[in-house]
Amino acid sequence: MAARRSPSSPQPHDDVGRHGAPSPDQTTGATTIGVIGCGDILYRSVLPALHIAGESLRVVGCCDPDGARLRRATDALAQLSPGARGYDHLAQLLAAERLDGVLNLTPAPLHAEVTQVALESGIHVYSEKPLASTPDAAWSLARLADERDVRLQCAPAIMAAPRFRWLKQIVAERRLGKPTLAVGQYANLGPAAIDDYRGNPAVHYGSDVGPLVDQGVYVLHAMTGLLGRARRVQALAAQAIPVRRVRCGHTKAEAVKLECNDHILIHLELEDGILGQVLSSFAVPATRARALEIHLTEGSIGLDDWQDANRSIDVFRDDEHGLAGWVDDLPAGRFAAPTNDLVAVGVLHFIAVLSGRESSLLPAAHACHVLEIIDAVNISIRERSQVAIAPTPEHRQGDARATEAR
Ligand SMILES: NC(=O)c1ccc[n+]([C@@H]2O[C@H](COP(=O)([O-])OP(=O)(O)OC[C@H]3O[C@@H](n4cnc5c(N)ncnc54)[C@H](O)[C@@H]3O)[C@@H](O)[C@H]2O)c1
Repeated sequence: MAARRSPSSPQPHDDVGRHGAPSPDQTTGATTIGVIGCGDILYRSVLPALHIAGESLRVVGCCDPDGARLRRATDALAQLSPGARGYDHLAQLLAAERLDGVLNLTPAPLHAEVTQVALESGIHVYSEKPLASTPDAAWSLARLADERDVRLQCAPAIMAAPRFRWLKQIVAERRLGKPTLAVGQYANLGPAAIDDYRGNPAVHYGSDVGPLVDQGVYVLHAMTGLLGRARRVQALAAQAIPVRRVRCGHTKAEAVKLECNDHILIHLELEDGILGQVLSSFAVPATRARALEIHLTEGSIGLDDWQDANRSIDVFRDDEHGLAGWVDDLPAGRFAAPTNDLVAVGVLHFIAVLSGRESSLLPAAHACHVLEIIDAVNISIRERSQVAIAPTPEHRQGDARATEAR
């Protein structure tokens, strides 16, 4: 499915700044995408996903201002899609190639700016998380995508993962009664302590990222994706480990100074009075607590490992006729992803949506709401208060549509 180009968008041309062989003619009908940002996640998760997508996909180009990274990525992508070319700047990529969509894999503080440029040229975008730095900036991108009639999707791909698609059905159909409480955490020492992390971990400990934007979003996407919007937030935070030593990559052994809170504790009031509790931390050396538990009136659900899309689920059924007990290691059901890697699942879902094989499970509006929660959390920490989250006009429209459909 080719994206519509706006009349003012740049047209393909032969230009400077390219790396790699000339691109072939477009005769295959495959979805064409470009990659923006060629760092750690490209090799860790995205390239494997693009390989799984196979012939239904053609990667026509990539861009990165870092020459060495760009050359390496262009070579790797050209092995997958012969003719893939590299560009120093996004504008060159957009001007030179006919793209259906792009993957925005730049560092978090650049996401909104890069996504806006891509949407303005009339192409579909899959953004790594967060969609933007503020909810207002995120909603502007969502509106821009609507105006241009293009898809804007955002990681984390929680709700596209097989086990969450399955859980959503269990919860929606009230098969374990009414949900009442969710308890979740994403807690570790952050990317400076990951032994094989090749990117720049310092950005994650900066004032505009931190554990909640980087990892807590997985928990927030899961809770709100399964149980509905957050209405009210109360949070506490602290700085626990002020300096880190990088364990891997090109900044190995360098000190990273903490500029954010590295312990964040959140209480949430969700729709229908459901309560949520979240720990988001870059200051937990190890934990055996579950990633997520959901308690319902007739049972409980528990799961581990946010990054494993196919990881099993444990379910306790509170059966009054004596059959009460846990069923451990339930397979995620009939939806099995072709890879366990959640980041790769998000990329594959985006490609499936562009080619019309799946409907969008990772809409921008959900990512906007998660940013509203993060904004409320920050206010609550600063002002030591409970913060209400008012529904936006987009939420109210969505509610009206849902009521009409019932
Ligand atoms: N690495 C992981 O395990 C992981 C997991 C989940 C999500 N993510 C997300 O993926 C994104 C990228 O992470 P990473 O670990 O690959 O970071 P990274 O620092 O390794 O790579 C980012 C790349 O973007 C390039 N870049 C910077 N400005 C650019 C611009 N204007 N245009 C194009 N490229 C530009 C950089 O030169 C660099 O090569 C982040 O948002 C991160 O949160 C990463």
